[in-house]
Amino acid sequence: MTGGHAHADAPSTDIVFESFFGNTRRVAEAIADGVRQHLVAALVDVRDEVPPNEHGVLVVGAPTHAHSLSRPASRREAEMWAKDLGKHLALEQGSRATGIREWIETDPRAVSGFATFDTRVDMPRIFTGSAATAISTRLRKRGLRELVRPESFLDSLKGIPRLYPELEVHRVVERGYAATVINRLSRDARLTVIGSHGRGAIARFLLGSTSQEVL
Ligand SMILES: Cc1cc2nc3c(=O)[nH]c(=O)nc-3n(C[C@H](O)[C@H](O)[C@H](O)COP(=O)(O)O)c2cc1C
Repeated sequence: MTGGHAHADAPSTDIVFESFFGNTRRVAEAIADGVRQHLVAALVDVRDEVPPNEHGVLVVGAPTHAHSLSRPASRREAEMWAKDLGKHLALEQGSRATGIREWIETDPRAVSGFATFDTRVDMPRIFTGSAATAISTRLRKRGLRELVRPESFLDSLKGIPRLYPELEVHRVVERGYAATVINRLSRDARLTVIGSHGRGAIARFLLGSTSQEVL
């Protein structure tokens, strides 16, 4: 476990995650930071003992493996990926005997409800599948109440180290107003590359455009 627990009677948010290369862990950590601004939150790696959540909210996140949640075979495959030096992937420390799929079978509880997230590759969901949706289906079947729709965070840096081996890639997940955070992080940069949702003119006018604010 990597976070403190609430007093037994206080409503708490337990953020339970699984991660092989750190992407899902980093998102889970950012969610914990955000929740802690208002509530008590515990961050729990699913490979550790997950305490029963008798009072509060469960947030559950996992990487998408073979369109869904990891299985023993996909976990072994992830270990093989880490051994492939060309992939530039470092495996998180610790044993990999269990995952979110197996933990859900232990009948997790959350009185107030749950939310799910995943990480997956940056392609339309029909091609990638979604571990968050798989978690959501399972928790709803167990009678838990879903508070928000499943959320995906996309691994869009995947091919960069392969294409540019001399480039050092540092991933940073921050909470805040997107344009302000990006401007601060790129203050000394010679080049800032920023993605776009591809919104049309009207949606851009109504919702605003982070890329235009960064410019
Ligand atoms: C064995 C294996 C299978 C995967 N299958 C999928 C998949 O079906 N769809 C997808 O979008 N991503 C897939 N991925 C990519 C991971 O979901 C993605 O890189 C994720 O961000 C990794 O998170 P982690 O660093 O927390 O392990 C797969 C990765 C591995 C290792």
